[in-house]
Amino acid sequence: MAVISILSGKGGVGKTTITSNIATAIANEFKRKVIILDTNVTSSHIRLHFGMHEEMKNTLKDVIRDEDMLEEATYSSEMTGVNIVPSPESLKGLDLDKLRNLASHLAASEYNYVIIDSAPGFRENTENVIRASDKIVIVTNPYLPDVSDSLKLMELVEKNRKEAIVVVNKVRGKKYEMTEAQIKKMLDIKDFVKIPEDEKVPESISHGVPVTVFAKGSKVSMALKKLAGQLIGEEYKPSLADRVKWFFGA
Ligand SMILES: Nc1ncnc2c1ncn2[C@@H]1O[C@H](COP(=O)(O)OP(=O)(O)O)[C@@H](O)[C@H]1O
Ligand SMILES: [Mg+2]
Repeated sequence: MAVISILSGKGGVGKTTITSNIATAIANEFKRKVIILDTNVTSSHIRLHFGMHEEMKNTLKDVIRDEDMLEEATYSSEMTGVNIVPSPESLKGLDLDKLRNLASHLAASEYNYVIIDSAPGFRENTENVIRASDKIVIVTNPYLPDVSDSLKLMELVEKNRKEAIVVVNKVRGKKYEMTEAQIKKMLDIKDFVKIPEDEKVPESISHGVPVTVFAKGSKVSMALKKLAGQLIGEEYKPSLADRVKWFFGA
C-alpha cells in the first residue's frame, strides 16, 4: 500500500532504530504485512536489530537484479513477524535506479508496507530512495549541525516533489538542545515528532529485540508506536497491558 523511507543527513541519529521499530509496530500492533529493504551498504545493521546474526547469502542486489529472487533474499524475524531483505556488502552492481519499481511492486502485491532503511547523507542513492517513496521520514537529533543537515535533505525531498515528516530522536530536554520553536523555524515546518532518548534502546539492540517489544510500556516505545500509527493513518491506542507497564516504567 505504501513505501516509507527513513533518511537522515547524518549517521548515528537513529534511522535503523526507527526503521526496525516502526516495522515491528506496523506488523504487531496494526497487523499488516511489512518488509524492510536495507539500502545501507556501508553499515547494514538492520538484521542485528532483530537478533539475526547468521550470514545472509542473498541480498537486495539479487532482488534488484531479478525479482524472482525475492523469496530467497527475504529473511523473516519470527519474534516480530517483520520480513527483511538485507543489503549487499558493496555498492558494486547495486542498481538503485530500479528501487522505485521494486518497492512499488512489493507495496502493490503481498506486502502492505515497504520500509526502506538508508545510508546517511547525500549519496548517489539518496535520490533513488526518495523517488521510490510515498512517505519520507527525516530523522535528526536536537542539535544545530544535525538539524541543518536535515534542511539540505528537505530541499532534496522538495525538489523531488515529495513530503517529509521530521522525527527528532534522542530528545533529553537539556538546555543545550535546540528548542521546539528553533527546530520548527529552521526547518520551516509546523510540526515534528519527538522521540525521547532512553537507555532501553541500546539495551534492546544488544539483545537483538526492537525496543517496542523489549520494553513495551516505555515512553520511547509508546512514541515509536504512535509514529508508526501516524505513518499508516491509524491511531495507536495503548493496550491495558502496555499502560500498566508504562505506569511502572517498564
Ligand atoms: N531514542 C533513543 N534513545 C537512546 N539511544 C538511541 C535512541 N535511538 C537510537 N539510539 C542509539 O543511537 C545509536 C545509533 O542508532 P542507529 O539507529 O543505528 O542510527 P543510524 O541508523 O541513523 O546510524 C545506537 O547505538 C542506538 O542505540
Ligand atoms: Mg543505520
